[in-house]
Amino acid sequence: MKIFIDTADLDEIKKAYGWGVADGVTTNPSLLKKAVGKREGVDLKQYIKEVLSVAGNTPVSLEVTETNSEGMVREGLKLHQLFSEDGNVNIKVPVNPSFEMESESDFEGLKTIKALADEGVPVNCTLVFTPEQALLAAKSGATYVSPFAGRIDDLLRCNAKLKYGKTDYYPAEGLVEDHVLLEDNGILSGIDLVQQCVELLTYYDLNTQVIAASLRNTRQVREAALVGAHIATVPPKVISAMLRHVKTCEGMQKFTEDVVEEYANLK
Ligand code: E4P
Repeated sequence: MKIFIDTADLDEIKKAYGWGVADGVTTNPSLLKKAVGKREGVDLKQYIKEVLSVAGNTPVSLEVTETNSEGMVREGLKLHQLFSEDGNVNIKVPVNPSFEMESESDFEGLKTIKALADEGVPVNCTLVFTPEQALLAAKSGATYVSPFAGRIDDLLRCNAKLKYGKTDYYPAEGLVEDHVLLEDNGILSGIDLVQQCVELLTYYDLNTQVIAASLRNTRQVREAALVGAHIATVPPKVISAMLRHVKTCEGMQKFTEDVVEEYANLK
């Protein structure tokens, strides 16, 4: 499974590439706002070029902010044209940009994906919460689909009126026995959503890769890998947590204590 870095923060991106674990970068308007907010007077065009330079030839997602097809296509083509010489840019497009259920703009996302794909612009279809949304995005020509595991877990926990922390694994131990867990139209958890998307796209040999997104803890990353997600986009904090184990620390202390002088001084 490839690992993308889920951040727009240049320092975090540099670190992850320095560790050798980054295969790409995903950004969204909220992540960009956070990163730019830390840096007063930043030249955004230059900043994005630096991100692309650190990422080298690996894919970097830049999201559109318009909400109708005409605007999203225009913006996607502009972003691609502005930055494709500097790196491997793909354009993030919402599967459905409507703010409300059953809106006239329901199909604007799919129209945009098709138009950009027809122009040879790779698309990462975002805000995917059902396997059927993933199927439609794949049929429209998306290169990637991003099911949002953490946000589905949030919805399931809210519906079940559970108290939770954003980074808690779901379903937590004991939950199954103590609560009635509500599914979201057949989706049992964020990882279940990822698994169903992977199964569906693989079953029909659709040439679209699943990016497990909105991952908030290490166990979700493990399970995304185990259910066959092609890619997981992971926040830097979660990557750091993936490396830690109490027994690793304990083992390091003991091995360090036990070093015999002759071994350390071998020439
Ligand atoms: C990445 O493509 C998504 O935008 C991101 O993973 C969303 O994460 P969040 O739900 O934790 O904000």
